[in-house]
Amino acid sequence: MYEHDVLIVGAGLAGMRAALAAQAAGADVAMITKVHPVRSHSNAAQGGINAALDAQDSWEEHAFDTIKGSDYLADQDAVQVMCREAGPELIVLENMGVTFNRDDSGRLGSRRFGGATKARTYFVADITGQAILHVMYEQLVKAGMRIYEEWFVTDVVLRDRQIGGVVAMELLTGKLELIKAKAIIMCTGGGGRVYEPSTNALICTGDGHALAYQMGAPLMDMEMVQFHPTTLKGSGVLITEGARGEGAYLLNSDGERFMEKYAPSAMELASRDVVSRGEQTEINEGRGVEECVFLDLRHLGAAKIRERLMQIQEIALDFASVNVLEELLPIRPGVHYVMGGIKTDIEGAVPGFDGFYAAGECACVSVHGGNRLGANSLLDTVIFGRRSGAHSAEYAKNARHLNLNEGEILKATEDRIRRFVDRPQNGDTVAGLRLELGRMMNDQVGVFREQAAMEDALVKVGDIKRRYENVAIKDKGRVFNTDLIFALELDYIIECADLVVRSAIYREESRGAHTRLDFPNRDDANWLKHTVATRRDGETVLEKGDVTITQWEPMERKY
Ligand code: FUM
Repeated sequence: MYEHDVLIVGAGLAGMRAALAAQAAGADVAMITKVHPVRSHSNAAQGGINAALDAQDSWEEHAFDTIKGSDYLADQDAVQVMCREAGPELIVLENMGVTFNRDDSGRLGSRRFGGATKARTYFVADITGQAILHVMYEQLVKAGMRIYEEWFVTDVVLRDRQIGGVVAMELLTGKLELIKAKAIIMCTGGGGRVYEPSTNALICTGDGHALAYQMGAPLMDMEMVQFHPTTLKGSGVLITEGARGEGAYLLNSDGERFMEKYAPSAMELASRDVVSRGEQTEINEGRGVEECVFLDLRHLGAAKIRERLMQIQEIALDFASVNVLEELLPIRPGVHYVMGGIKTDIEGAVPGFDGFYAAGECACVSVHGGNRLGANSLLDTVIFGRRSGAHSAEYAKNARHLNLNEGEILKATEDRIRRFVDRPQNGDTVAGLRLELGRMMNDQVGVFREQAAMEDALVKVGDIKRRYENVAIKDKGRVFNTDLIFALELDYIIECADLVVRSAIYREESRGAHTRLDFPNRDDANWLKHTVATRRDGETVLEKGDVTITQWEPMERKY
Protein backbone atom coordinates (compact mmCIF):
# COMPACT_ATOMS: atom_id res chain seq x y z
CA MET A 1 0.00 0.00 0.00
CA TYR A 2 1.18 3.50 -0.90
CA GLU A 3 0.20 6.76 0.74
CA HIS A 4 0.22 10.43 -0.36
CA ASP A 5 -1.43 13.71 0.60
CA VAL A 6 -2.62 14.48 -2.92
CA LEU A 7 -2.93 11.99 -5.76
CA ILE A 8 -3.48 13.29 -9.27
CA VAL A 9 -5.20 10.93 -11.69
CA GLY A 10 -3.98 11.71 -15.21
CA ALA A 11 -0.78 13.38 -16.38
CA GLY A 12 -1.84 15.70 -19.18
CA LEU A 13 -1.48 19.43 -18.79
CA ALA A 14 -4.13 19.84 -16.09
CA GLY A 15 -2.57 17.04 -14.06
CA MET A 16 0.99 18.28 -14.51
CA ARG A 17 0.08 21.85 -13.57
CA ALA A 18 -1.91 20.59 -10.56
CA ALA A 19 1.01 18.44 -9.41
CA LEU A 20 3.50 21.31 -9.58
CA ALA A 21 1.14 23.63 -7.70
CA ALA A 22 0.31 21.08 -5.00
CA GLN A 23 3.97 20.30 -4.45
CA ALA A 24 4.84 24.01 -4.33
CA ALA A 25 2.18 24.35 -1.60
CA GLY A 26 3.98 21.75 0.50
CA ALA A 27 1.99 18.58 -0.15
CA ASP A 28 3.38 15.10 -0.66
CA VAL A 29 2.10 14.62 -4.23
CA ALA A 30 1.99 11.74 -6.67
CA MET A 31 0.55 11.31 -10.13
CA ILE A 32 -0.97 8.19 -11.63
CA THR A 33 -1.42 7.77 -15.37
CA LYS A 34 -2.39 4.98 -17.73
CA VAL A 35 0.13 6.18 -20.34
CA HIS A 36 3.55 7.82 -20.18
CA PRO A 37 2.89 11.52 -19.34
CA VAL A 38 4.05 12.90 -22.69
CA ARG A 39 1.66 10.53 -24.46
CA SER A 40 -1.28 12.27 -22.79
CA HIS A 41 -3.84 13.76 -25.14
CA SER A 42 -2.78 17.39 -24.39
CA ASN A 43 0.00 16.44 -26.78
CA ALA A 44 -2.50 16.66 -29.64
CA ALA A 45 -3.59 20.27 -29.00
CA GLN A 46 -2.37 22.06 -32.08
CA GLY A 47 -3.41 25.68 -32.52
CA GLY A 48 -2.55 27.53 -29.31
CA ILE A 49 -3.52 28.98 -25.95
CA ASN A 50 -5.52 32.16 -25.40
CA ALA A 51 -4.55 35.18 -23.30
CA ALA A 52 -5.32 38.90 -23.61
CA LEU A 53 -1.68 40.00 -23.48
CA ASP A 54 -1.73 42.72 -26.11
CA ALA A 55 -2.13 46.35 -25.05
CA GLN A 56 -5.08 46.66 -27.46
CA ASP A 57 -6.83 43.74 -25.80
CA SER A 58 -8.28 43.15 -22.31
CA TRP A 59 -9.25 40.18 -20.18
CA GLU A 60 -12.81 41.55 -20.19
CA GLU A 61 -12.97 41.27 -24.00
CA HIS A 62 -11.58 37.74 -23.80
CA ALA A 63 -14.22 36.95 -21.16
CA PHE A 64 -17.03 38.39 -23.28
CA ASP A 65 -15.95 36.41 -26.36
CA THR A 66 -15.80 33.25 -24.22
CA ILE A 67 -19.26 33.83 -22.76
CA LYS A 68 -20.81 34.65 -26.12
CA GLY A 69 -19.06 31.59 -27.56
CA SER A 70 -20.56 29.48 -24.76
CA ASP A 71 -24.03 30.66 -25.83
CA TYR A 72 -24.28 32.21 -22.35
CA LEU A 73 -24.16 28.88 -20.56
CA ALA A 74 -20.69 29.39 -19.02
CA ASP A 75 -20.52 30.48 -15.39
CA GLN A 76 -19.26 34.03 -15.63
CA ASP A 77 -17.39 34.07 -12.29
CA ALA A 78 -15.28 31.14 -13.53
CA VAL A 79 -14.71 32.76 -16.93
CA GLN A 80 -13.54 35.94 -15.19
CA VAL A 81 -11.00 33.97 -13.16
CA MET A 82 -9.71 32.17 -16.24
CA CYS A 83 -9.38 35.24 -18.46
CA ARG A 84 -7.90 37.46 -15.73
CA GLU A 85 -5.24 34.89 -14.85
CA ALA A 86 -4.45 33.94 -18.47
CA GLY A 87 -1.74 36.54 -19.13
CA PRO A 88 0.37 35.83 -16.02
CA GLU A 89 0.02 32.07 -16.57
CA LEU A 90 1.24 32.37 -20.16
CA ILE A 91 4.31 34.17 -18.87
CA VAL A 92 4.86 31.34 -16.37
CA LEU A 93 4.85 28.90 -19.31
CA GLU A 94 7.24 31.12 -21.25
CA ASN A 95 9.57 31.24 -18.26
CA MET A 96 9.43 27.47 -17.94
CA GLY A 97 10.83 27.37 -21.48
CA VAL A 98 7.93 27.11 -23.93
CA THR A 99 9.22 28.52 -27.23
CA PHE A 100 6.15 30.48 -28.29
CA ASN A 101 6.15 31.93 -31.78
CA ARG A 102 7.60 35.46 -32.04
CA ASP A 103 6.54 38.22 -34.43
CA ASP A 104 8.94 40.22 -36.59
CA SER A 105 9.73 42.60 -33.74
CA GLY A 106 10.66 39.70 -31.48
CA ARG A 107 7.56 39.93 -29.29
CA LEU A 108 5.18 37.04 -28.65
CA GLY A 109 3.14 36.68 -31.83
CA SER A 110 -0.52 35.63 -31.85
CA ARG A 111 -3.10 34.41 -34.35
CA ARG A 112 -6.87 34.85 -34.38
CA PHE A 113 -9.07 31.90 -33.51
CA GLY A 114 -12.79 31.30 -34.02
CA GLY A 115 -15.22 33.41 -31.99
CA ALA A 116 -12.47 35.79 -30.89
CA THR A 117 -12.62 39.50 -31.67
CA LYS A 118 -8.85 39.86 -31.25
CA ALA A 119 -5.78 37.84 -32.22
CA ARG A 120 -5.02 36.43 -28.76
CA THR A 121 -4.00 32.85 -29.47
CA TYR A 122 -0.31 32.25 -28.67
CA PHE A 123 1.24 29.25 -30.33
CA VAL A 124 4.19 27.06 -31.14
CA ALA A 125 3.55 26.43 -34.87
CA ASP A 126 0.78 23.78 -34.88
CA ILE A 127 2.24 21.70 -32.04
CA THR A 128 1.42 23.96 -29.08
CA GLY A 129 0.12 21.24 -26.75
CA GLN A 130 3.11 19.03 -27.43
CA ALA A 131 5.53 21.91 -26.79
CA ILE A 132 3.94 22.84 -23.46
CA LEU A 133 3.54 19.22 -22.35
CA HIS A 134 7.22 18.44 -22.88
CA VAL A 135 8.38 21.58 -21.09
CA MET A 136 6.10 20.88 -18.15
CA TYR A 137 7.26 17.27 -18.02
CA GLU A 138 10.81 18.59 -17.58
CA GLN A 139 9.54 20.56 -14.60
CA LEU A 140 8.05 17.38 -13.09
CA VAL A 141 11.33 15.53 -13.53
CA LYS A 142 13.22 18.44 -12.00
CA ALA A 143 10.78 18.45 -9.07
CA GLY A 144 11.36 14.71 -8.54
CA MET A 145 7.63 14.02 -8.84
CA ARG A 146 6.49 10.49 -7.98
CA ILE A 147 4.65 9.19 -11.06
CA TYR A 148 2.85 5.84 -11.17
CA GLU A 149 3.38 5.50 -14.90
CA GLU A 150 1.25 3.02 -16.89
CA TRP A 151 -1.07 2.32 -13.99
CA PHE A 152 -4.82 2.08 -14.57
CA VAL A 153 -7.30 3.34 -11.96
CA THR A 154 -10.17 0.90 -11.45
CA ASP A 155 -11.91 2.43 -8.40
CA VAL A 156 -12.02 5.49 -6.22
CA VAL A 157 -12.14 4.63 -2.51
CA LEU A 158 -14.67 6.68 -0.63
CA ARG A 159 -16.21 6.58 2.86
CA ASP A 160 -19.12 8.88 3.76
CA ARG A 161 -18.20 11.09 0.80
CA GLN A 162 -14.63 11.49 2.01
CA ILE A 163 -11.79 10.48 -0.31
CA GLY A 164 -9.59 7.60 0.84
CA GLY A 165 -7.56 6.93 -2.33
CA VAL A 166 -7.77 4.73 -5.40
CA VAL A 167 -7.37 1.13 -6.44
CA ALA A 168 -5.12 0.81 -9.48
CA MET A 169 -3.51 -1.85 -11.60
CA GLU A 170 0.16 -1.69 -12.49
CA LEU A 171 0.07 -2.63 -16.17
CA LEU A 172 3.52 -4.19 -16.19
CA THR A 173 2.62 -6.81 -13.58
CA GLY A 174 -1.18 -6.77 -13.51
CA LYS A 175 -0.99 -6.34 -9.74
CA LEU A 176 -3.71 -4.38 -7.96
CA GLU A 177 -2.64 -1.85 -5.34
CA LEU A 178 -4.38 0.46 -2.93
CA ILE A 179 -2.94 3.99 -3.09
CA LYS A 180 -4.19 6.02 -0.15
CA ALA A 181 -4.61 9.77 -0.52
CA LYS A 182 -6.27 12.51 1.48
CA ALA A 183 -7.28 14.22 -1.74
CA ILE A 184 -7.46 13.19 -5.35
CA ILE A 185 -7.66 15.43 -8.41
CA MET A 186 -9.27 13.91 -11.49
CA CYS A 187 -7.36 15.15 -14.54
CA THR A 188 -8.26 12.32 -16.87
CA GLY A 189 -9.11 14.45 -19.92
CA GLY A 190 -12.04 13.94 -22.23
CA GLY A 191 -14.32 11.22 -23.48
CA GLY A 192 -14.20 11.95 -27.20
CA ARG A 193 -13.94 8.24 -27.97
CA VAL A 194 -17.57 7.84 -27.01
CA TYR A 195 -17.91 8.83 -30.68
CA GLU A 196 -16.29 7.28 -33.75
CA PRO A 197 -14.49 8.84 -35.48
CA SER A 198 -13.08 11.49 -33.18
CA THR A 199 -10.08 13.80 -33.07
CA ASN A 200 -9.26 12.32 -29.69
CA ALA A 201 -6.56 9.80 -28.90
CA LEU A 202 -7.73 6.23 -28.26
CA ILE A 203 -7.07 6.79 -24.55
CA CYS A 204 -9.81 9.47 -24.25
CA THR A 205 -12.39 7.13 -22.79
CA GLY A 206 -14.09 9.30 -20.17
CA ASP A 207 -12.47 7.47 -17.23
CA GLY A 208 -12.73 10.34 -14.75
CA HIS A 209 -16.23 11.28 -15.84
CA ALA A 210 -17.45 7.72 -15.30
CA LEU A 211 -15.62 7.09 -12.01
CA ALA A 212 -16.96 10.35 -10.59
CA TYR A 213 -20.50 9.60 -11.73
CA GLN A 214 -20.32 6.09 -10.27
CA MET A 215 -19.33 7.54 -6.88
CA GLY A 216 -22.33 9.89 -6.89
CA ALA A 217 -20.69 13.12 -8.07
CA PRO A 218 -22.71 15.54 -10.21
CA LEU A 219 -21.95 15.63 -13.95
CA MET A 220 -22.91 18.89 -15.61
CA ASP A 221 -23.92 19.72 -19.22
CA MET A 222 -22.92 16.34 -20.61
CA GLU A 223 -25.04 16.96 -23.74
CA MET A 224 -22.57 19.66 -24.79
CA VAL A 225 -20.23 17.79 -27.13
CA GLN A 226 -18.14 19.90 -29.50
CA PHE A 227 -17.82 19.05 -33.18
CA HIS A 228 -14.63 20.63 -34.54
CA PRO A 229 -15.23 22.05 -38.03
CA THR A 230 -12.06 20.71 -39.61
CA THR A 231 -11.40 17.02 -39.09
CA LEU A 232 -9.87 14.99 -41.85
CA LYS A 233 -12.05 12.84 -44.13
CA GLY A 234 -12.08 9.22 -43.00
CA SER A 235 -9.70 9.13 -40.07
CA GLY A 236 -11.14 12.20 -38.29
CA VAL A 237 -7.65 13.55 -37.45
CA LEU A 238 -7.65 17.18 -36.29
CA ILE A 239 -6.73 19.90 -38.78
CA THR A 240 -6.10 22.91 -36.60
CA GLU A 241 -8.36 25.95 -36.51
CA GLY A 242 -5.02 27.74 -36.75
CA ALA A 243 -5.24 27.06 -40.50
CA ARG A 244 -8.33 29.27 -40.73
CA GLY A 245 -6.65 31.64 -38.28
CA GLU A 246 -3.84 32.00 -40.81
CA GLY A 247 -6.39 32.67 -43.57
CA ALA A 248 -7.54 29.32 -45.02
CA TYR A 249 -11.07 29.22 -46.52
CA LEU A 250 -13.92 26.74 -46.41
CA LEU A 251 -15.44 25.84 -49.78
CA ASN A 252 -18.38 23.68 -50.83
CA SER A 253 -18.58 21.49 -53.93
CA ASP A 254 -19.62 24.55 -55.99
CA GLY A 255 -16.43 26.34 -54.91
CA GLU A 256 -18.37 28.86 -52.75
CA ARG A 257 -17.11 30.28 -49.46
CA PHE A 258 -20.38 29.16 -47.90
CA MET A 259 -19.73 30.63 -44.43
CA GLU A 260 -20.91 33.93 -45.89
CA LYS A 261 -24.46 32.57 -45.46
CA TYR A 262 -24.05 31.49 -41.85
CA ALA A 263 -21.66 34.07 -40.36
CA PRO A 264 -21.32 36.99 -42.78
CA SER A 265 -18.99 38.96 -40.59
CA ALA A 266 -16.74 36.35 -38.93
CA MET A 267 -16.91 33.90 -41.88
CA GLU A 268 -14.60 30.91 -41.24
CA LEU A 269 -13.69 32.34 -37.83
CA ALA A 270 -17.15 32.14 -36.30
CA SER A 271 -17.42 29.93 -33.22
CA ARG A 272 -17.06 26.18 -33.80
CA ASP A 273 -20.72 25.29 -33.30
CA VAL A 274 -21.74 27.83 -35.96
CA VAL A 275 -19.12 26.69 -38.48
CA SER A 276 -19.87 22.99 -37.93
CA ARG A 277 -23.60 23.56 -38.41
CA GLY A 278 -22.85 25.52 -41.60
CA GLU A 279 -20.70 22.69 -42.98
CA GLN A 280 -23.21 19.99 -42.01
CA THR A 281 -26.03 21.96 -43.68
CA GLU A 282 -23.99 22.21 -46.89
CA ILE A 283 -23.30 18.48 -46.79
CA ASN A 284 -26.93 17.58 -45.97
CA GLU A 285 -28.22 19.81 -48.80
CA GLY A 286 -25.97 18.17 -51.38
CA ARG A 287 -23.16 20.70 -51.65
CA GLY A 288 -20.51 18.42 -50.20
CA VAL A 289 -18.50 15.57 -51.66
CA GLU A 290 -18.54 12.20 -49.88
CA GLU A 291 -19.84 13.73 -46.61
CA CYS A 292 -17.15 16.45 -46.68
CA VAL A 293 -16.56 20.07 -47.64
CA PHE A 294 -13.12 21.52 -48.35
CA LEU A 295 -10.42 23.51 -46.62
CA ASP A 296 -8.42 25.64 -49.05
CA LEU A 297 -4.89 26.55 -47.92
CA ARG A 298 -3.36 27.03 -51.34
CA HIS A 299 -3.24 30.83 -51.24
CA LEU A 300 -1.31 30.83 -47.92
CA GLY A 301 1.89 29.89 -49.76
CA ALA A 302 4.63 27.40 -49.02
CA ALA A 303 6.65 29.60 -46.64
CA LYS A 304 3.79 30.33 -44.23
CA ILE A 305 2.61 26.73 -44.27
CA ARG A 306 6.12 25.46 -43.60
CA GLU A 307 6.64 27.88 -40.72
CA ARG A 308 3.24 27.70 -39.02
CA LEU A 309 1.26 24.70 -40.25
CA MET A 310 3.92 22.14 -40.94
CA GLN A 311 2.26 19.34 -38.98
CA ILE A 312 -1.06 19.57 -40.80
CA GLN A 313 0.77 19.67 -44.13
CA GLU A 314 2.26 16.31 -43.17
CA ILE A 315 -1.04 14.95 -41.83
CA ALA A 316 -2.82 15.87 -45.08
CA LEU A 317 -0.17 14.11 -47.13
CA ASP A 318 0.21 11.03 -44.92
CA PHE A 319 -3.45 10.40 -44.07
CA ALA A 320 -5.30 11.76 -47.13
CA SER A 321 -2.64 11.91 -49.87
CA VAL A 322 -3.40 15.61 -50.33
CA ASN A 323 -0.73 18.23 -51.06
CA VAL A 324 -2.26 21.31 -49.40
CA LEU A 325 -0.02 23.62 -51.43
CA GLU A 326 -1.87 22.56 -54.57
CA GLU A 327 -5.03 20.70 -53.64
CA LEU A 328 -8.21 21.15 -51.58
CA LEU A 329 -8.35 19.21 -48.33
CA PRO A 330 -11.61 17.30 -47.65
CA ILE A 331 -12.79 17.88 -44.10
CA ARG A 332 -15.95 17.53 -42.02
CA PRO A 333 -17.22 18.29 -38.51
CA GLY A 334 -15.95 15.69 -36.04
CA VAL A 335 -16.16 15.12 -32.29
CA HIS A 336 -13.39 16.97 -30.53
CA TYR A 337 -14.23 17.99 -26.97
CA VAL A 338 -16.74 17.41 -24.17
CA MET A 339 -17.72 20.72 -22.58
CA GLY A 340 -19.61 18.86 -19.85
CA GLY A 341 -17.97 17.10 -16.97
CA ILE A 342 -17.57 16.74 -13.22
CA LYS A 343 -19.12 19.80 -11.60
CA THR A 344 -16.56 21.81 -9.62
CA ASP A 345 -16.20 25.21 -8.03
CA ILE A 346 -13.47 27.65 -9.11
CA GLU A 347 -10.93 25.89 -6.86
CA GLY A 348 -11.61 22.60 -8.59
CA ALA A 349 -13.46 21.15 -5.58
CA VAL A 350 -16.43 18.88 -6.29
CA PRO A 351 -19.44 19.94 -4.18
CA GLY A 352 -20.63 17.48 -1.55
CA PHE A 353 -17.28 15.66 -1.14
CA ASP A 354 -14.23 16.03 1.09
CA GLY A 355 -10.96 15.80 -0.78
CA PHE A 356 -12.37 15.35 -4.28
CA TYR A 357 -11.20 17.68 -7.06
CA ALA A 358 -11.27 17.76 -10.86
CA ALA A 359 -9.58 19.92 -13.50
CA GLY A 360 -9.18 20.06 -17.27
CA GLU A 361 -11.51 18.46 -19.78
CA CYS A 362 -13.04 15.98 -17.35
CA ALA A 363 -14.20 18.88 -15.16
CA CYS A 364 -17.00 21.36 -15.73
CA VAL A 365 -16.19 24.52 -13.80
CA SER A 366 -17.90 25.82 -16.21
CA VAL A 367 -15.91 28.08 -18.53
CA HIS A 368 -17.04 26.64 -21.86
CA GLY A 369 -20.81 26.30 -21.41
CA GLY A 370 -22.49 25.24 -24.64
CA ASN A 371 -19.50 25.75 -26.90
CA ARG A 372 -15.79 26.14 -26.15
CA LEU A 373 -13.68 28.65 -28.01
CA GLY A 374 -10.62 27.16 -29.65
CA ALA A 375 -7.44 27.58 -27.57
CA ASN A 376 -9.40 28.06 -24.35
CA SER A 377 -8.91 24.41 -23.42
CA LEU A 378 -5.14 24.59 -22.92
CA LEU A 379 -5.83 27.70 -20.88
CA ASP A 380 -8.48 25.92 -18.80
CA THR A 381 -6.04 23.08 -18.03
CA VAL A 382 -3.27 25.31 -16.66
CA ILE A 383 -5.48 27.78 -14.76
CA PHE A 384 -7.75 25.28 -13.04
CA GLY A 385 -5.00 22.67 -12.78
CA ARG A 386 -2.96 25.16 -10.78
CA ARG A 387 -5.90 26.25 -8.63
CA SER A 388 -7.02 22.71 -7.79
CA GLY A 389 -3.43 21.69 -6.97
CA ALA A 390 -2.98 24.59 -4.57
CA HIS A 391 -6.39 24.15 -2.95
CA SER A 392 -6.12 20.40 -2.50
CA ALA A 393 -2.72 20.83 -0.83
CA GLU A 394 -4.27 23.24 1.68
CA TYR A 395 -7.14 20.82 2.27
CA ALA A 396 -4.71 17.94 2.86
CA LYS A 397 -2.86 19.89 5.58
CA ASN A 398 -5.88 19.58 7.86
CA ALA A 399 -7.19 16.22 6.68
CA ARG A 400 -6.43 12.67 7.84
CA HIS A 401 -6.00 9.45 5.92
CA LEU A 402 -8.97 7.12 6.27
CA ASN A 403 -8.57 3.80 8.04
CA LEU A 404 -9.11 1.33 5.24
CA ASN A 405 -9.29 -2.44 5.07
CA GLU A 406 -6.86 -3.02 2.22
CA GLY A 407 -7.55 -6.75 1.82
CA GLU A 408 -11.30 -6.28 1.53
CA ILE A 409 -10.97 -3.40 -0.93
CA LEU A 410 -8.53 -5.20 -3.23
CA LYS A 411 -10.56 -8.41 -3.14
CA ALA A 412 -13.68 -6.64 -4.43
CA THR A 413 -11.77 -5.33 -7.46
CA GLU A 414 -9.91 -8.60 -7.98
CA ASP A 415 -13.22 -10.52 -8.05
CA ARG A 416 -14.61 -8.12 -10.67
CA ILE A 417 -11.54 -8.52 -12.87
CA ARG A 418 -11.50 -12.30 -12.43
CA ARG A 419 -15.08 -12.53 -13.71
CA PHE A 420 -13.94 -10.72 -16.86
CA VAL A 421 -10.87 -12.84 -17.42
CA ASP A 422 -12.63 -16.16 -16.66
CA ARG A 423 -15.64 -15.53 -18.93
CA PRO A 424 -15.75 -17.76 -22.06
CA GLN A 425 -15.86 -16.18 -25.55
CA ASN A 426 -19.42 -15.40 -26.67
CA GLY A 427 -19.45 -13.51 -29.95
CA ASP A 428 -19.27 -9.84 -28.99
CA THR A 429 -15.82 -8.28 -28.79
CA VAL A 430 -14.74 -5.18 -26.90
CA ALA A 431 -13.55 -3.51 -30.13
CA GLY A 432 -16.77 -4.40 -31.91
CA LEU A 433 -19.00 -2.98 -29.19
CA ARG A 434 -16.90 0.17 -28.96
CA LEU A 435 -17.12 0.82 -32.70
CA GLU A 436 -20.83 0.06 -32.84
CA LEU A 437 -21.50 2.49 -29.99
CA GLY A 438 -19.27 5.26 -31.39
CA ARG A 439 -20.75 5.12 -34.88
CA MET A 440 -24.28 5.07 -33.51
CA MET A 441 -23.52 8.15 -31.36
CA ASN A 442 -22.19 9.99 -34.41
CA ASP A 443 -25.28 9.09 -36.45
CA GLN A 444 -27.93 9.71 -33.81
CA VAL A 445 -26.53 12.28 -31.35
CA GLY A 446 -24.49 14.41 -33.73
CA VAL A 447 -24.39 18.01 -34.94
CA PHE A 448 -28.18 17.99 -35.45
CA ARG A 449 -30.35 16.08 -32.98
CA GLU A 450 -34.00 15.20 -32.49
CA GLN A 451 -36.09 13.31 -29.96
CA ALA A 452 -36.90 10.07 -31.80
CA ALA A 453 -33.30 9.40 -32.87
CA MET A 454 -32.03 10.13 -29.35
CA GLU A 455 -34.68 7.93 -27.68
CA ASP A 456 -33.59 5.16 -30.03
CA ALA A 457 -29.94 5.89 -29.17
CA LEU A 458 -30.75 5.42 -25.50
CA VAL A 459 -32.26 2.01 -26.22
CA LYS A 460 -29.15 1.08 -28.20
CA VAL A 461 -26.83 2.22 -25.40
CA GLY A 462 -28.88 0.04 -23.02
CA ASP A 463 -28.51 -2.93 -25.37
CA ILE A 464 -24.74 -2.42 -25.62
CA LYS A 465 -24.58 -2.15 -21.82
CA ARG A 466 -26.30 -5.54 -21.48
CA ARG A 467 -24.02 -7.16 -24.06
CA TYR A 468 -21.00 -5.65 -22.32
CA GLU A 469 -21.92 -7.60 -19.17
CA ASN A 470 -21.13 -10.79 -21.12
CA VAL A 471 -18.21 -9.68 -23.24
CA ALA A 472 -15.07 -11.79 -22.93
CA ILE A 473 -11.40 -11.03 -23.50
CA LYS A 474 -8.84 -13.21 -25.22
CA ASP A 475 -5.74 -12.48 -23.14
CA LYS A 476 -6.13 -14.38 -19.87
CA GLY A 477 -2.79 -13.29 -18.44
CA ARG A 478 -1.95 -10.34 -16.24
CA VAL A 479 1.27 -8.91 -17.70
CA PHE A 480 0.51 -5.81 -19.77
CA ASN A 481 -2.98 -7.09 -20.56
CA THR A 482 -4.22 -4.37 -22.91
CA ASP A 483 -7.25 -6.53 -23.75
CA LEU A 484 -8.34 -6.18 -20.15
CA ILE A 485 -7.65 -2.43 -20.08
CA PHE A 486 -9.70 -1.86 -23.26
CA ALA A 487 -12.52 -3.85 -21.67
CA LEU A 488 -12.42 -1.75 -18.50
CA GLU A 489 -12.29 1.45 -20.57
CA LEU A 490 -15.38 0.36 -22.47
CA ASP A 491 -17.33 0.45 -19.20
CA TYR A 492 -16.35 4.13 -18.85
CA ILE A 493 -17.25 4.87 -22.49
CA ILE A 494 -20.70 3.30 -22.13
CA GLU A 495 -21.35 5.25 -18.92
CA CYS A 496 -20.45 8.52 -20.68
CA ALA A 497 -22.53 7.71 -23.76
CA ASP A 498 -25.52 7.05 -21.54
CA LEU A 499 -25.05 10.42 -19.80
CA VAL A 500 -24.62 12.33 -23.08
CA VAL A 501 -27.82 10.88 -24.54
CA ARG A 502 -29.91 11.33 -21.39
CA SER A 503 -28.75 14.91 -20.93
CA ALA A 504 -29.35 15.69 -24.62
CA ILE A 505 -32.91 14.38 -24.42
CA TYR A 506 -33.47 16.39 -21.21
CA ARG A 507 -32.42 19.78 -22.68
CA GLU A 508 -35.40 20.78 -24.82
CA GLU A 509 -33.88 23.73 -26.67
CA SER A 510 -30.97 24.52 -29.02
CA ARG A 511 -27.93 26.15 -27.44
CA GLY A 512 -24.26 26.06 -28.42
CA ALA A 513 -23.26 22.66 -29.73
CA HIS A 514 -26.63 21.14 -28.79
CA THR A 515 -28.86 21.73 -31.84
CA ARG A 516 -32.28 20.13 -31.76
CA LEU A 517 -34.35 20.12 -34.94
CA ASP A 518 -37.46 19.67 -32.78
CA PHE A 519 -36.55 22.62 -30.49
CA PRO A 520 -34.68 24.91 -32.91
CA ASN A 521 -34.45 28.02 -30.71
CA ARG A 522 -32.53 28.99 -27.61
CA ASP A 523 -35.02 29.21 -24.74
CA ASP A 524 -33.58 31.41 -22.00
CA ALA A 525 -36.87 31.50 -20.08
CA ASN A 526 -36.71 27.76 -19.38
CA TRP A 527 -33.19 26.67 -20.25
CA LEU A 528 -30.67 29.29 -19.21
CA LYS A 529 -29.75 26.42 -16.90
CA HIS A 530 -27.11 23.76 -16.52
CA THR A 531 -28.18 20.14 -16.75
CA VAL A 532 -26.91 18.17 -13.76
CA ALA A 533 -26.88 14.36 -13.83
CA THR A 534 -26.35 12.43 -10.60
CA ARG A 535 -26.62 8.76 -9.76
CA ARG A 536 -29.00 8.09 -6.89
CA ASP A 537 -29.98 4.56 -5.85
CA GLY A 538 -28.64 3.24 -9.15
CA GLU A 539 -30.76 5.62 -11.26
CA THR A 540 -29.69 8.70 -13.25
CA VAL A 541 -31.43 11.78 -11.88
CA LEU A 542 -31.41 14.87 -14.13
CA GLU A 543 -31.97 18.33 -12.69
CA LYS A 544 -31.50 21.95 -13.69
CA GLY A 545 -28.72 24.00 -12.07
CA ASP A 546 -28.31 27.78 -11.96
CA VAL A 547 -25.96 29.58 -14.36
CA THR A 548 -23.86 32.34 -12.75
CA ILE A 549 -24.30 35.64 -14.56
CA THR A 550 -22.08 38.47 -13.29
CA GLN A 551 -22.04 41.28 -15.84
CA TRP A 552 -22.88 39.95 -19.30
CA GLU A 553 -26.63 39.56 -19.87
CA PRO A 554 -27.56 37.01 -22.54
CA MET A 555 -28.02 38.52 -26.00
CA GLU A 556 -28.77 37.22 -29.45
CA ARG A 557 -25.63 35.60 -30.81
CA LYS A 558 -24.42 36.69 -34.26
CA TYR A 559 -21.07 36.30 -35.97
O1 FUM B 1 -7.96 23.57 -33.83
C1 FUM B 1 -7.19 23.45 -32.90
O2 FUM B 1 -6.00 23.71 -32.97
C2 FUM B 1 -7.74 23.01 -31.62
C3 FUM B 1 -7.57 23.75 -30.56
C4 FUM B 1 -8.46 23.58 -29.41
O3 FUM B 1 -9.34 22.73 -29.46
O4 FUM B 1 -8.35 24.35 -28.45
